[in-house]
Amino acid sequence: MVRRSIVAGVGACLPERIVTNAELARRIDTSDEWIRERSGIHQRHIAGDGEMTSDLATRAAEKALAAAGMGADDVGIIVLATSTPDETFPATATVVQSKLGCSNGSMGFDVQAVCSGFVYALATADNFLKAGQVDTALVLGAETFSRILDWEDRTTCVLFGDGAGAVLLKAGDGKGSSDDRGVLSTHLHSDGRLHDLLYVDGGPSSTGEVGLLRMEGREVFKHAVTKMSEVTVEALEANGLDADEIDWFVPHQANRRIIDGTARKLGITGERVVVTIDQHANTSAASIPLALSVAVDDERIQQGNLVLLEAMGGGLTWGSGIIRW
Ligand code: ACO
Repeated sequence: MVRRSIVAGVGACLPERIVTNAELARRIDTSDEWIRERSGIHQRHIAGDGEMTSDLATRAAEKALAAAGMGADDVGIIVLATSTPDETFPATATVVQSKLGCSNGSMGFDVQAVCSGFVYALATADNFLKAGQVDTALVLGAETFSRILDWEDRTTCVLFGDGAGAVLLKAGDGKGSSDDRGVLSTHLHSDGRLHDLLYVDGGPSSTGEVGLLRMEGREVFKHAVTKMSEVTVEALEANGLDADEIDWFVPHQANRRIIDGTARKLGITGERVVVTIDQHANTSAASIPLALSVAVDDERIQQGNLVLLEAMGGGLTWGSGIIRW
C-alpha cells in the first residue's frame, strides 16, 4: 500500500474584466492578427483596481472546497504558487488562509517557480501528503501578472493575463502502480544560468522596487519545446506509460505554437490537448489549474483519466506531473 494524493475538487477564478487584442491595439503598436498568429491569444482577463492575487486565489479555493464538499478547516496545508504576491511578505497563502476562514492552525506558504509554479506546488503538496504529514492539501496557482508587465513593451505585454486555479488533494491508498488514482509522479528541474532569458528587473533586495517582466522571447521559445518535451517523456517513462495512454495533455499555456510543438513531439493529437491560451493568455502559475478547471467543468476530464501536466518558466524552471483523476 502506498499513500496517494487524490484530486477531490478543482476551482478557478478569472477577473471580470476582459481585454481583447483589439483593445490592446488601440493602446500600443500591435494588432489582433499579430497576437493571434504568434501566440494564439485572443483575449485575457485583467484584475480590477484593488483586486489582488489573494482575492482570485481565495475564490478559486472556495470553489475547489465546495466541489469536494469540504470546509476551510479540513485543509492541512496550503501551497500557493505565485510570482505576484500581494506583498513581499507574508506569504499570500497565509492571506488566503485568513480569507477562507481557516482556524485550525494548518500550514500555508508560497512557492516561487514562475510559470512552473503550479507543478512545483503540486509536487510539494504531494510529498507532504505522501509523507503522512497532512491528509488534505490545497494547491493554488494565482497571479496578477498585469501588475509586473511593461505596458509600453509590445513584445511582452500582449502575452499575459490574470487568474487563479485551485486543486484540492486528499490522501488515499494505492497499490503503487499507474492504475492508482492520484498524483503518480512529479518531475522538477531548474537551471539558474538561464536567468537572463526571463526575469523581473527588480525586487526587495536589489532595487527595492517591484520591477517589470523582461523576456528574450525567441530564446525562451527554443528552450520551451525541448525542455517540456523532455520532462514529459521523463514522466511517462517513470510510470511505464506510453503517450497513447494519456487521456488529457494539460500543458502550461504560454503560447499556442509551444503547446502544438510539444504535443506534436509527444505524438499526442489535438483533441486530447486542453487549450485555454486563446481565452486566458499566459497566466503563469495559474494556467494549468485554470485549464484543469475548464476541462473538468465541461466534463472532458473524467474520474480514472490519465492527465499529463508540464510547464516551463523563469529561472529557468520546468517540470511535469501525471495524475490519474
Ligand atoms: N505586435 C506587433 N509586432 C510585434 C509585437 C507585437 N505585440 N511584438 C513584437 N513584434 C515585432 C517585432 O518587433 C519584430 O519586428 P521586426 O522583425 O521588425 O524586428 C517582429 O514582430 C518579430 O518578432 P519576434 O520576436 O521575432 O517574433 P516571434 O515570432 O519570435 O514571436 C513571441 C514573439 C510571441 C514572444 C515568441 O517568441 C514567443 O512566444 N516566445 C515564447 C515566450 C513565452 O511564451 N514566454 C512566456 C513566459 S515563459 C513560458 O511561459 C514558457
